Amino acid sequence: MFEKKTVLTGIKPTGTPHLGNLVGAIKPVIEMSNEAEKSYIFIADLHALNAVRDSALIKKWTNEVAATFLALGLDTKKAVFFRQSDVQEIYKLTVMLTNVTSKGLMNRSHAYKAVAAQNIENGNAADSGINMGLYTYPILMAADILLYDTDVVPVGQDQKQHVEMARDIAGSFNHIYNKEVLVVPEPVIQKVASAIPGLDGRKMSKSYENHIPIFAETKKLKKSIMRIVTDSKRPEEPKNPDESTIYQLYQHFASKDEADTMRKEFTDGGLGYGDAKKMLFETIELSIKEPRERYYDLLEHPDKINEVLQSGAERARKTAAQTVNKVFEAMLGKVA
Ligand code: ADP
Ligand code: TRP
Repeated sequence: MFEKKTVLTGIKPTGTPHLGNLVGAIKPVIEMSNEAEKSYIFIADLHALNAVRDSALIKKWTNEVAATFLALGLDTKKAVFFRQSDVQEIYKLTVMLTNVTSKGLMNRSHAYKAVAAQNIENGNAADSGINMGLYTYPILMAADILLYDTDVVPVGQDQKQHVEMARDIAGSFNHIYNKEVLVVPEPVIQKVASAIPGLDGRKMSKSYENHIPIFAETKKLKKSIMRIVTDSKRPEEPKNPDESTIYQLYQHFASKDEADTMRKEFTDGGLGYGDAKKMLFETIELSIKEPRERYYDLLEHPDKINEVLQSGAERARKTAAQTVNKVFEAMLGKVA
């Protein structure tokens, strides 16, 4: 689907990556970058700023997200892998785009409206706690996308509106300046594998105490898996695999045959939750063992991570600088 296209995606460093992120975002992004003609994958640290006010945390999570991609084998010779804040052109393009973006467009942003609605529900003023970083989030995201002549942005449903706004902004720009300066991107909605459940059965999320970090150490991984909440069915009773957190996780790490076997044993009865948890633990442990070593080795050597990200940023800047020059030329009659 992505052959001959420039695809781009950003990942916000707002927590230690968990198994839900791995299955729902990180693995698909690595696969996409293998398929695409050209891919840009970046850590959206500037996008984290509207919520995270601790530089040490942003740094920690940026390193963790980067180390996760590298440990899992992202091919950084092919993909341009970088940190958003390292490409100076992002700041320039963002300022320029504010002038072709209507306030009304920002008023319609779901991300900002959700916070305003929550404020009202809590009896607070609508704008309470809303900073301009949140309000203008779609402009920064449009700049990310438009800087690199992106054709396609693969996103989950929650980000679709942001990509549509980037289309609108590119369209307005080209219309106002009467020239095809910016490439108008397309969103591609990733088919939603149903959300990976967490330890308590709700969607696994960093916002709940229900997540399992991708690279949890062996003992911690085992302990977490043993804590997965189940009902009280006895081993011989039939169980619905589609309602079982254990099976939901297992199917993403086991081979197809292994997953089919667990599915049948749950459906027919005969497999107890304790044994199923053991199988889940062993399967995840096997699949993350090697990347986990690489991950902790990278975190111990943050200079190695930095080197990879910096060299990615240098590659990213080649296209970014050209785009910014074209934009400056159109708006100011001079290069940047
Ligand atoms: P969180 O819910 O932990 O805050 P984010 O909203 O930051 O996670 O999600 C980052 C990416 O990981 C998104 O692409 C999202 O779709 C994916 N993701 C997060 N949680 C899950 C989950 N439980 N199952 C599948 N994908 C998930
Ligand atoms: N807003 C995205 C998220 O919250 C992250 C992001 C920033 C992004 N810039 C992007 C995604 C550009 C795709 C393209 O997950």
